[in-house]
Amino acid sequence: MKRVFNPFKEETKVRHKAMIQISPYIDSLALIRQKKQKNIQCRVRLAKKTDLQALVQLEQKGYAGYIAWDLSDFERDWHRNPQILYLVIEAKDLATDKSKIIGMITGRCLINNTHISQLVIDPEWQSHGLGSYLLKIWLQISRELDRKSVTLEVRESNTHAQKIYYQQGFVLENKKPFYYEDNGETALFLRCHL
Ligand SMILES: CC(C)(COP(=O)(O)OP(=O)(O)OC[C@H]1O[C@@H](n2cnc3c(N)ncnc32)[C@H](O)[C@@H]1OP(=O)(O)O)[C@@H](O)C(=O)NCCC(=O)NCCS
Repeated sequence: MKRVFNPFKEETKVRHKAMIQISPYIDSLALIRQKKQKNIQCRVRLAKKTDLQALVQLEQKGYAGYIAWDLSDFERDWHRNPQILYLVIEAKDLATDKSKIIGMITGRCLINNTHISQLVIDPEWQSHGLGSYLLKIWLQISRELDRKSVTLEVRESNTHAQKIYYQQGFVLENKKPFYYEDNGETALFLRCHL
């Protein structure tokens, strides 16, 4: 029989330690009380491997077409990186029982700190407090995991995102000029001490 080459075959047993550790905490979270659509039930859950394609689509929608990570980047991270932490907001339509991912916060749990790589809310669901809520959960998880701080990079022009970071205690630590490949924009390196 012909063998199909699977680059991730050997890595599929990676244990996502931090995700396993925080799983009881995530399961204990209440459903999100959102006012946008009464027949839609939203909750935070850990991401699954089968969500990765949806994460790419969400990222594309959230960044208006710009793709920071394509599917292979997410798959590589998922299969090779034991430190990953991926959370999503799932919205379930109670009438049809269909679910959709409308938000994500992803990153990694390092020795002393956690690092946020992506925070994205579906544009149709933005400005309803969901981004701030995911960030708050991430900070709580980082405390649960006994990490000392949370770090992230944000574009200098992304003042909307910066607002929620500063509101939740992040401070500017450093500026990285020409950080983003697409337009050479400066990145602000922010840290929240826990
Ligand atoms: C940044 C992002 C995650 C924020 O999520 P969100 O759910 O829209 O944010 P929230 O609803 O929690 O809003 C938080 C604050 O921003 C304000 N805000 C929300 N939408 C806004 C908008 N379009 N313009 C200006 N301020 C806005 C809210 O009023 C709120 O402030 P308040 O607490 O003083 O009322 C979301 O806009 C997004 O996905 N953007 C695209 C991807 C991105 O830039 N990610 C960050 C990369 S570092």
